[in-house]
Amino acid sequence: ARAALGQRNLVFVGLMGAGKSSIGRPVAHQLGLPFVDTDAEIERVSRMTIAELFAAYGEQEFRALETRVIKRLLKGGPRVVSTGGGAFINERTRLHVKRGSLSVWLKADLDVLWERVNKRDTRPLLKTENPKQTLENLMNARYPIYAEADITVLSRDVNKDIMVREVLAAIA
Ligand code: S3P
Repeated sequence: ARAALGQRNLVFVGLMGAGKSSIGRPVAHQLGLPFVDTDAEIERVSRMTIAELFAAYGEQEFRALETRVIKRLLKGGPRVVSTGGGAFINERTRLHVKRGSLSVWLKADLDVLWERVNKRDTRPLLKTENPKQTLENLMNARYPIYAEADITVLSRDVNKDIMVREVLAAIA
């Protein structure tokens, strides 16, 4: 898998709860590449949490910062990058990713996603009357766009090691 990647970055895209970071990190380890999570990087450079950024500056400003951070991260590769769920939806970010990276969409169904995100309330986009419905709306809006990723891997409720192996096999 490492050879197949060459000098490209490996970029995980998909909705919140799809496992982009929890699978991306061990995949990076297996590949011997550095791992970075774009949300964590945004929080580091802004010295604010994602929730604080949304509250203080709004989603649009967050997206602008996200695009800048990802562009910089992709240039310094090869690395494994897990993106926030909205990143690949942004056309400019998508173009950056398509240049010089292999993208993997971790695709999951609503119940798998909901099971994982509903325990934590760090996601500002899900602070709505009916967060499960909001998640479903995001799925409907975004799945056709995530489908532009180079590779799709079904994210299921199985042992993480199995998912890691499936991703590595999909790359090779
Ligand atoms: C978002 C997903 C989050 C975070 C922000 C917005 C989205 O990242 O970037 O809350 O638009 O789907 P995760 O996918 O890592 O939860």
